[in-house]
Amino acid sequence: TRISQQNTRIDKSGHRHFMAKEMAEQPAILKAALGFYGVPNSGISGLPEGVDFAQADRVILVACGTAHYACHVAKYWFEQIAHVPVEIDIASEFRYRAPVLTAKTIAIFVSQSGETADTLAALRHVKGKIAQTIAVVNIPTSSIAREADLALPLHAGPEISVASTKTFTAQLLVLALLSLKAGVDRGRLDAKACDQHLEALQTVPGYVAQALDREDNYRSIAEILAKHDDVLFLGRGLMYPLSLEAALKFKEISYIHAEAYAAGELKHGPIALIDKNLPVVVMAPRDDLFGKTISNMQEVMARSGKIVLISDKAGLNATGGAEYTITLPAVPSFISPFVYSVPAQMLAYHTALARGTDVDQPRNLAKSVTVE
Ligand code: G6P
Repeated sequence: TRISQQNTRIDKSGHRHFMAKEMAEQPAILKAALGFYGVPNSGISGLPEGVDFAQADRVILVACGTAHYACHVAKYWFEQIAHVPVEIDIASEFRYRAPVLTAKTIAIFVSQSGETADTLAALRHVKGKIAQTIAVVNIPTSSIAREADLALPLHAGPEISVASTKTFTAQLLVLALLSLKAGVDRGRLDAKACDQHLEALQTVPGYVAQALDREDNYRSIAEILAKHDDVLFLGRGLMYPLSLEAALKFKEISYIHAEAYAAGELKHGPIALIDKNLPVVVMAPRDDLFGKTISNMQEVMARSGKIVLISDKAGLNATGGAEYTITLPAVPSFISPFVYSVPAQMLAYHTALARGTDVDQPRNLAKSVTVE
């Protein structure tokens, strides 16, 4: 009806799709979430309360879909910053293997909806057997939030598009804060170093806004990707889970077969796929692993693969020959996952537009999966 169409327009705040609106909201949401967790004013004392990682023998992170990739990023942070053993698993696998649980284990369940059946079942599987269960959820009244010992909200507001975008970066933010808390609790991060990380987090909304402000760049590359049936994403370190998330977004909304590989694994199989018809998107911020990722990229170029290189200005200047490029702001490695989330989302979005698929309601998918 006319009224519902009008409502839809209002809800999308002038955007063509909820996904576009939700991507655009990210700087404001991240800023508000930083405020909620008290980062700008309280510094180290603004870190999440109610959890102490000092005695933890391991941290287990469990989730499904996009939330699982947020956990995958967090594994790198927890290990680097807090030097704590971390396990990540997809919820549907976790409780059917024999995960080692002890009275010193802390488990974190990440879920936008807080109702995903497998994630909820995984939480119930460990509850009472370990030190603490923590929920990182967008819906504070959800089952997962209620049943966990501690619930940390995302404050991302309602997410309508089936493909998660703003809740992914909001999950990253809460998990980053938890990894800093773990670093402080375990004596691995002193107050000064913690403050430096918190200062870096405060620059995230601004950098994400800059990354969003490259729509023409994303659109022109997406129009090329849309002509292919397969796309490969490569990244190392923190960019490996980002590549996985980018490939998931492609599958979900553009229906293009996309795979992600840790760039160093290229030679153990996927390199056989490379020819002039396979676009390979390389996520390579200028971090410690930059040179290694670029040498993997050159292996693709030597086999006529079509490269889309995403890096910062210095990174792009240091390498030649990539057919297509996306320039992102240069940021400290710690916060690079937030900034590289934007091309992961935007390339899939514009590819879906070019293919004419249903962006907000992709076929066969549900926003929340409450059955096993
Ligand atoms: C579904 C959605 C995904 C989401 C996943 C996990 O598959 O389509 O976008 O990442 O569920 O959902 P959750 O609510 O637990 O984050």
